[in-house]
Amino acid sequence: MAKITYHGHSCVVVESQGKSVIIDPFLNGNSHAKIKPSEVKVDAIIVTHGHGDHIGDSIEIAKNNNCPIISNFEIANWCAAKGANVHPLHIGGSHIFEFGKVKLTPAVHGSSLPDGSYGGFPAGILLFMGGKCIYHAGDTGITSDMALYGRLNEIDVALLPIGDNFTMDINDAVEAAVLLQTKAAMPMHYDTFPIIPADPKEFIEKVKERGIKGILCLPGESVEI
Ligand code: NI
Ligand code: MN
Repeated sequence: MAKITYHGHSCVVVESQGKSVIIDPFLNGNSHAKIKPSEVKVDAIIVTHGHGDHIGDSIEIAKNNNCPIISNFEIANWCAAKGANVHPLHIGGSHIFEFGKVKLTPAVHGSSLPDGSYGGFPAGILLFMGGKCIYHAGDTGITSDMALYGRLNEIDVALLPIGDNFTMDINDAVEAAVLLQTKAAMPMHYDTFPIIPADPKEFIEKVKERGIKGILCLPGESVEI
């Protein structure tokens, strides 16, 4: 069992067996977030790529919780230079932490950090917690590699961006869910900025037509998987 709470944009908290992690903690500046960085209590932070709407409040949360930021080597080094605890990983690599296992997959996107520093290669995340496999796609276009992630992992829930412009749109995200052979799919990365409007209910309907369960969590809502 694992509990996923959506905080708008690409930010989720995953909890299981008394441990919790936050992915892409963009809260300050996220019009959908109902919590402040100071309210976040977690055992780790996972960051998909360097863009400000993903690295977000990672440094503050890491310092408050004395917990590591898990990301690619370049982002981990940038965070370490700002005084945060880090655990560097890189694409294709995984590590078992106390809360579970994290593996980075490629994402088709960019990754520069807010100050223009090089942020390495953007990632998606395979998070194994509470006997479940959660795939967080990060920011990405659709790629046929997703079929491989589906073949190699039994994915319980795929969190997929649907807002278009910077990432997949709804139709591409539906195809991604099919490629991933995921049991359930949850939309993210939409409506937070005027340039990424999308109707999450349309995504839910369309994945259902393809035999995949759609999970719609509004900001602040949770689902148990
Ligand atoms: Ni991005
Ligand atoms: Mn983004």
